[in-house]
Amino acid sequence: MEPPEHLVTAPEPHAGRPAGIATPAVPPPDILRCAYMEIVVTDLARSREFYVDVLGLVVTREDEDTVYLRTFDEFIHHNLVLRQGPVAAVAAFSYRVRSPEDLDRAEAFYRELGCRVERRAEGFVAGVGDSVRVQDPLGFPCEFFHEVQHVERLAWRYELHGPGALVRLDHFNQVTPDVPRAVAHLQDLGFRVTEDIRDEQGTVYAAWMRRKPTVHDTAMTGGDGPRMHHIAFATHEKHNILSICDTLGALRRSDAIERGPGRHGVSNAFYLYLRDPDGHRVEIYTQDYYTGDPDNPVVSWDVHDNQRRDFWGNPVVPSWYTDASLVLDLDGRPQPVLGREEPKEMAVTIGADGFSYTRKGDTERGFKLGNTL
Ligand SMILES: [Fe+2]
Repeated sequence: MEPPEHLVTAPEPHAGRPAGIATPAVPPPDILRCAYMEIVVTDLARSREFYVDVLGLVVTREDEDTVYLRTFDEFIHHNLVLRQGPVAAVAAFSYRVRSPEDLDRAEAFYRELGCRVERRAEGFVAGVGDSVRVQDPLGFPCEFFHEVQHVERLAWRYELHGPGALVRLDHFNQVTPDVPRAVAHLQDLGFRVTEDIRDEQGTVYAAWMRRKPTVHDTAMTGGDGPRMHHIAFATHEKHNILSICDTLGALRRSDAIERGPGRHGVSNAFYLYLRDPDGHRVEIYTQDYYTGDPDNPVVSWDVHDNQRRDFWGNPVVPSWYTDASLVLDLDGRPQPVLGREEPKEMAVTIGADGFSYTRKGDTERGFKLGNTL
């Protein structure tokens, strides 16, 4: 049987390496997984209400200006830190590494790149020990840690789970002007590409990269950056996502739903995108696929394939392409945003100049009504 026309699988991604970031001679840290994000919110009580009372994340600890939250299957202290501050932004994309020695590796790796590096034996936030924070070559504030306080894994505590229970942190998504440059840096860090979106001219619009054996720990989305596109939490099943939609409708808060629910083409996951009270984007995500074999095939999607972002051909709202959160430097100042020079996905796929297809070559009937918002 011929493979479906919308998928092109490639054994080797990204032949040739873009200029821009050197590969350090020292080995990278052994990263296990994305572990938590620290975000600054401008009204902590409002954000707490959204993440705890509406979405049902579990409070591990809180004080006057910080709330530490985790998902039901998690055994480490937190997956999300909300911190009160003047500007809504991301303070850290945090990864857990395999051993304490991997912190030495992280420190040496980024020092060789000439990046700003800070290490605190007591950690930067509660519940986490020795940690390295860096401003990476792409401008993102990243953290690495191993020591962490264990807490009760609430996986079996079904009496606490709501119908939309968030059970794991799944991934980050970052906006960066030059995707191949970002991919090269993450490959140096030990990440592998699982899927990407590109065109026949070779422009790469987005790439999904993993350490843990799922589709991704983070995705690099082409756009003005560095900015944070979203943080994604997983549910067990699709009906949990539908329940979150019903809850938001019942609360007359459907304006928190930005896009979806739907089925992604990329990742094959079921999805929903929400916006928190500061506009930080949260994805609810479930049921992608296993990617842990060393010869896991890379899936490349044509940017003009109308099923790449939504497998049912539903439109992507423009705000999803344009809006994202600022990121902070290690002093807490917002990083300047640099424009993407290459074509933008929204411009090449919707509007007067863009085009996309449901069936390649079918230019008369290829569109689904409403996909050109
Ligand atoms: Fe995502």
